[in-house]
Amino acid sequence: MNDLYHLAYVSDVQLVEPGQTVDEALLQWHLQQILDAAKRNNGALQITGALLYSGGHFAQVLEGPQTAISDRYRRISQDTRHTNITPLIYEPAEERQFANWSMVLCGPGEVHGLPSDFEAKPSPGSVEAGDLGKSIVASLAEAMGQRSFT
Ligand SMILES: Cc1cc2nc3c(=O)[nH]c(=O)nc-3n(C[C@H](O)[C@H](O)[C@H](O)COP(=O)(O)O)c2cc1C
Repeated sequence: MNDLYHLAYVSDVQLVEPGQTVDEALLQWHLQQILDAAKRNNGALQITGALLYSGGHFAQVLEGPQTAISDRYRRISQDTRHTNITPLIYEPAEERQFANWSMVLCGPGEVHGLPSDFEAKPSPGSVEAGDLGKSIVASLAEAMGQRSFT
């Protein structure tokens, strides 16, 4: 059986204490820390995926074996560097969209076709959540497809 699942969620970035100003260098350092941990863990778990950081929000897609995905998501959703973590889709996937990346960070400039309110938090399990999740997977996959050709 092909045990391939994918999961997408959106969340609000919380890299500094409320009221603290976010210095660009500090922000980049935090993002790199997240990416380093993701790469370190995901490879061993056969997880691949993409992380979008845009306008104070994250959107992330994880793909891989079902148990690995749900375990990692549980860990990620307890991370205090983000909040309001809202799952959008968690379902079998036909193929990997991010096979080349244990985790890749995408910037807003290279991602097109996302709803402008991608950070909206639809009720988990709703049609809106499913639609947004699919749109996030497609937009990030498209962006990363472009990147591999440049
Ligand atoms: C937005 C965001 C995305 C993350 N993505 C991943 C990920 O894909 N894989 C992962 O292992 N950890 C990810 N993390 C980090 C985990 O929450 C956690 O800090 C890390 O897995 C702990 O790794 P360690 O046990 O090696 O220290 C993410 C954290 C945040 C805030």
